[in-house]
Parts: sequence; C-alpha cells; structure tokens
Amino acid sequence: MFDIYTIGAEVLRAKAEAVTDFDDALRATLQTMFDTMQWGHGIGLAAPQVGIGQRFFVTSIDDDKPRVFINPEIVLTSPELSSYEEGCLSIPGAYAKLDRPGLIKVQAWNEKGRPFTLEAEGLLARVIQHELDHLNGVLFTDRLPERIRERVLTQYEKRMRA
Ligand code: NI
Repeated sequence: MFDIYTIGAEVLRAKAEAVTDFDDALRATLQTMFDTMQWGHGIGLAAPQVGIGQRFFVTSIDDDKPRVFINPEIVLTSPELSSYEEGCLSIPGAYAKLDRPGLIKVQAWNEKGRPFTLEAEGLLARVIQHELDHLNGVLFTDRLPERIRERVLTQYEKRMRA
C-alpha cells in the first residue's frame, strides 16, 4: 500500500514527467495503486497522489472495468458541461459541485505500452479529467469559484485539526 499525499504536499503541485519505461516495476506500482485506491474507497488515483511525479493514473468506477492511463492527453472535450459533486483522496472529506465537459476523448497508453483512444462520458469522463489535472499539479478545489474554494478548504482544515 502507498501513503496518500494530501493537499500541502509539494508533489501534488508539480507537473509530472512522462513515463518512458513500460516495465514490470511500473506494472507493480500500478497494482499497488489499485490496492491503495480500493483501500481509500476512491474511484481514481493519480501517481502524484502517492508521491510519484509521473504521468499516469488508474480508475475504478461501478459498471466499468479497472483502467490504466499512462501519458494521457485529452484530445477533445464537449462544449456541454455537466455538474457533479467532486471529492479527492488528497483532500479527504472535502466535496463541492464542479462543472466540467460532459464528454471527452482521451489518448493514452496502457500498462503494456499499447496506445488507445477512449471516448468517455458521465462519471468516467469526470474522473479522467480530475486525475489528469493531478498530473499537472491541479486540484479540483483550484477550479472552484474563490468563495466556495475558501469555504471548502476552511472546512477541510477544521476537520484535520479536530
Ligand atoms: Ni484527486
């Protein structure tokens, strides 16, 4: 199991580096990330959240297979936005509604080093966008209107001190 880094950790604010070696070490790391995500009851987990500054993340949502995205790029987003209450394992207990494109197309590589393209909507599109943000040092709270962000982060800090 990996430790999950929480807001304030530098690794969560850095731009992650592209993966170059699709080797057994990477596959072992991905497996441990799936275990860590399941333990945390998360539906997505990005490498920087476990202290690894590289461009990959995993997802596991109901009615979908577990997925691995390495060096992902979003190549298309719908103009239509959808609203959803988001949370993050790196800001435990903090939730807020956030608008994001409802449909996306993403290109990435899987754990075997094979490229793929995926069109996603609904919760999967949401998770992919949230996790890809992590690879660029962005947290979902950054995308909230300032007043809501302050309220959410104040609540989070109070809870952490309690
Ligand atoms: Ni997150």
